[in-house]
Amino acid sequence: MRFSSTIAAAALVASTAAADNYLGFNSGATKADRSAKFKEDWVAEFKTAQGLKNAPGKFNAVRLYTNIQAYAQDDPIEAFEAAIETETYMLLGIWASGTTNIDKELSALNKAIKKYGSKFTDLVIGMSVGSEDLYRNSVTGVTNEAGVGQDPDVLVKFIEQYRKAVADTPLSSVPVGHVDTWDVWGNTTNKVVVDAIDFLGVDEYPYYETGKGNAISNSGQLFDRAYDATIGVAGGKPVWVTETGWPSSGPAWDEAEASVKNAKYYWNEVGCRRLFGKTPTFWYTLRDSNPDNKMQFAITKDLSTTPLFDLTCPTTFETPEASENTASSSGSATKSGSSGSASETGSASAGNSNGEDSTAVQPDGPGSAASGLVASMTATAALAVVGAFFTLL
Ligand SMILES: *[C@@H]1O[C@H](CO)[C@@H](O)[C@H](O)[C@H]1NC(C)=O
Repeated sequence: MRFSSTIAAAALVASTAAADNYLGFNSGATKADRSAKFKEDWVAEFKTAQGLKNAPGKFNAVRLYTNIQAYAQDDPIEAFEAAIETETYMLLGIWASGTTNIDKELSALNKAIKKYGSKFTDLVIGMSVGSEDLYRNSVTGVTNEAGVGQDPDVLVKFIEQYRKAVADTPLSSVPVGHVDTWDVWGNTTNKVVVDAIDFLGVDEYPYYETGKGNAISNSGQLFDRAYDATIGVAGGKPVWVTETGWPSSGPAWDEAEASVKNAKYYWNEVGCRRLFGKTPTFWYTLRDSNPDNKMQFAITKDLSTTPLFDLTCPTTFETPEASENTASSSGSATKSGSSGSASETGSASAGNSNGEDSTAVQPDGPGSAASGLVASMTATAALAVVGAFFTLL
């Protein structure tokens, strides 16, 4: 029963890794001018992350989107060497959209295992096969012209191929997940993916939740509802928060305003209150990399270890407890329109994500199709997602 023993081993490691509750940032393969990042770029990022003043923990982890170095066919991404040099833990990623196979991703990964051995594999805390592929294929993603996605069945096939490819390597005991926006996790058609993985990665941006009362004062509640809903459909599997953050500058989005003050509020109310030290968390972000996105999410400028705001966590919080959330949310959610279920639950999310790095790192991709605009959506699309979602709860 090789299959079940693999699952058991993976589950064991998954719980071990979760217990470590790593802190890190997302990091795409390219810079804001779309040029490739190389080893020294990642060394600079990882050093800044680890040296951030007043950080509420050690930010010594990173989430990558691909194993492949930009400008190369199937060479390992140079982030690996930078991680080894700086002792940075890695949630790896395999780019799974717009392709019928993941051969180059697996080839790059295998080269890295051979080249760096346990120096590399000891730092790998997880593998995500895909990033927001289901979102881009969802009604919301299609409405938002979010770009090329992937079918759940193909993702499952890729997950199986990955497991086979690393079966005889130290990575066989590293948990395998998939990262997607919170709303698609509850779509029953996608349950085959939940069944195939060891942990769920969830991307959540209350900032983009049009029509949901997305003023900063409501951001903690919007986050909670989406996060709790994801946990609710995870079947007991760990849920890692793979992208979340609030922009410090850029245009307003419905009731949401981008400012340093609001980015700090979100850091406190979502990061400090709900995530840091409680679940593996990859904040969005340390360094912006999509010139098409008018919203700037980086918590620091030019990789300074002195961030835009004080990272110190407060001891008290403003976000009400979950029971109060429900009561206060129904009013703000009614703006989303016609569906009773969404209005009542108030947890409609916008199926949003800025998709920024995801597109930037797409090895052969267009590079900018999604940008910040993927987050925009019609109320109708939101309600369709939410309607499908809440039938599960
Ligand atoms: C549910 O998931 C399937 C497969 O990913 C997708 O085709 C469909 O559009 C999704 N439904 C909604 C309402 O987004």
